[in-house]
Amino acid sequence: MKIGYLQFKPELGKANQNTEKVESFISGENFDLIVIPELANSGYLFNEKEDLKKVSENPETGKYCNMLKRLSKEKKAYIVSGFCESAKEDNKEVFYNSSILVFPDGEYRIYRKTHLFFNEKKFFKPGNTGFWVYDISNKKFGTVKLGMMVCFDWIFPESARTLALRGADIICHPANLVMPYCQNAMFTRALENRVYTITANRVGTDLNGGESLEFTGESVIVSPAGEYLSRASADKEEIFFTTVNPELSRNKCINEKNNMFEDRRELFYFKNTKND
Ligand code: ACM
Repeated sequence: MKIGYLQFKPELGKANQNTEKVESFISGENFDLIVIPELANSGYLFNEKEDLKKVSENPETGKYCNMLKRLSKEKKAYIVSGFCESAKEDNKEVFYNSSILVFPDGEYRIYRKTHLFFNEKKFFKPGNTGFWVYDISNKKFGTVKLGMMVCFDWIFPESARTLALRGADIICHPANLVMPYCQNAMFTRALENRVYTITANRVGTDLNGGESLEFTGESVIVSPAGEYLSRASADKEEIFFTTVNPELSRNKCINEKNNMFEDRRELFYFKNTKND
């Protein structure tokens, strides 16, 4: 199965430009699965909610998501991308920091970021989808189970763990990382769950109203054995693919006596951690 990521620099507030840029990066490529960074259609460093109105979209009708659906169909390939989602709730417009998984038949699934980072709390509602796993299939690679999480979800080990316990073979992880830890931590997320992880990070700097934020690139793919199959540069736009065997994710043994899931002792993992 040929999997990969796009690492690029979205232009803040320029949805049409970002849509064209992503299309031009992937339209000449052949692959089974690609992961594209968080908020790929919008950029990241918003100042006020008004900024989101212009760049967010409904995944059913939005230009960015429809471009992904068209490419997925043309290529008979699966695409995961972060995007700025607009939704109507109680007759009000609300925003989610979301990830879409697009199927070649035009179907799609949405994951909404569970753990919001820093100022994201001013603009987005916390995700309400939870962590779910979806079957993707074709004649070439059979059936593979995909899970999604977005950026800062990585720091909560429960995110990847939940996906792995639900059977994920590959965790797709669109990101806009500003701290340097995640790329190293994904080694542990992949190893402790024995799954493939694809972290598609962005590069470049967003500038807005005198503020600036630099993103750390170094998108990574890690195998269930904790091998780095790729690590991109810190600052360049790059597209990368590699061939993997997702069946490796289904073997949770680290030796003949230890199975990572069967050896778990849930009895001692408290739900309520108050010590009284
Ligand atoms: C982040 O969650 N975008 C840092």
